[in-house]
Amino acid sequence: MNRLGLEFMGLPLINPFILASAPPTATPAMIERAFEAGWAGAVIKTLIDEPVRNLSNRFGINKIGSRVYGFKNIELVSELSPTEWFSGVVALKKKFPDRLIIGSIMADARDFDGWRRLALGCQEAGMDMVELNFSCPNGYPEKGKGCAIGQNEKVAADIVRNIKADHRITLPIVPKLTPNVTDIAFIGEELAKAGADAFCAINTVPSLLGFDLSTLNPKVNVNGYSTSGGYSGPGIKPIALRCVHELVCGPAIPVMGCGGCMAGEDAVEFLLLGAGVVQLATAVMFEGYPLIHQLLSGMLQFMDQHGFETIADFQGKGSQRIRRFDQLDTTFRTRAVIDPETCKRCGKCVVSCRDGGYQAISALSEDACPCIDPEKCVGCSLCAHVCPFGAIRLRDC
Ligand SMILES: Cc1cc2nc3c(=O)[nH]c(=O)nc-3n(C[C@H](O)[C@H](O)[C@H](O)COP(=O)(O)O)c2cc1C
Repeated sequence: MNRLGLEFMGLPLINPFILASAPPTATPAMIERAFEAGWAGAVIKTLIDEPVRNLSNRFGINKIGSRVYGFKNIELVSELSPTEWFSGVVALKKKFPDRLIIGSIMADARDFDGWRRLALGCQEAGMDMVELNFSCPNGYPEKGKGCAIGQNEKVAADIVRNIKADHRITLPIVPKLTPNVTDIAFIGEELAKAGADAFCAINTVPSLLGFDLSTLNPKVNVNGYSTSGGYSGPGIKPIALRCVHELVCGPAIPVMGCGGCMAGEDAVEFLLLGAGVVQLATAVMFEGYPLIHQLLSGMLQFMDQHGFETIADFQGKGSQRIRRFDQLDTTFRTRAVIDPETCKRCGKCVVSCRDGGYQAISALSEDACPCIDPEKCVGCSLCAHVCPFGAIRLRDC
């Protein structure tokens, strides 16, 4: 039995891992290699019916030491024409009938014919559903496309309504949402009312990576200049999880989680919140298609640890544990406790508690284990997070 197999919108999948629309899905030949490696599905790089001229260079990394916190891109959509995509996908679907192939399309906000034509092309090529790119933050918002559409529920809903009104189009319509809105649940509600069948959340977060301080060139340097562009990878996972949660609790349609998933354990968190499947881009750009093996084994390890036989055993089970602030227990109290054996007397907790906390930790001397004043400790947890040795834990009291 394949314990990671599942159903999404009535379609059987070999596992919950889907390549997000991005460079790893830039051509049908690349997607073919990904399917050979074991990916359950792929969203094609967004197609548009106009020439695409990309910049060089277009990527940057936000690193602290050797640790990657996030990735920035100023890449546009697919350089392949819709015709090239459609013929390529026909062949791909023939070779991999059991894999999910999701189209991704973009057009002008008022070009309803354009949206319908592309959606129909995806359907005729045999794609299983189609994402509407309402969320790209690079290059298109200034032309009224991409996330400029996703930030305006009326404009976005008009597009969905128009596509759904075309009775030739039967494949599921999946708006891909931007996190750069005040209330993603409200946008979701409006699009669900307009007929959206599912959502993908999220696309990237607009960002600037800063400067190379030796040259004063901006990072992601295009001949001395740069521009705002989409941030992805580990740093956006908390934003993506929050968006997925709000959508899952709002309009009752399926959600594909996306954003900052780097490992099987990250994907578990999206599924716990009720995502139907998980999409990845940045992690695959770093690790290549063989990443799928780590994702599968990470998820299986989690399931074994908890005795879950299938994904359905834990999918959505975490969402009841997320509540509004005013529904949390104000009588619940914790206190920090330092283990003198593990403590290396570095003093970090003393400094953090003194200048960023409640002045509850003090040390009598440099080589003494710090003491916690139970009267002053509010159990905020700052000390436990800054301790480099894991010597501090919180105890319920
Ligand atoms: C270089 C790059 C290009 C991307 N191109 C597209 C695109 O053409 N269409 C789209 O819907 N999303 C695009 N995305 C966004 C990803 O599909 C995904 O939503 C985002 O990167 C967050 O997921 P991640 O943290 O796993 O990368 C792109 C992302 C990256 C990094």
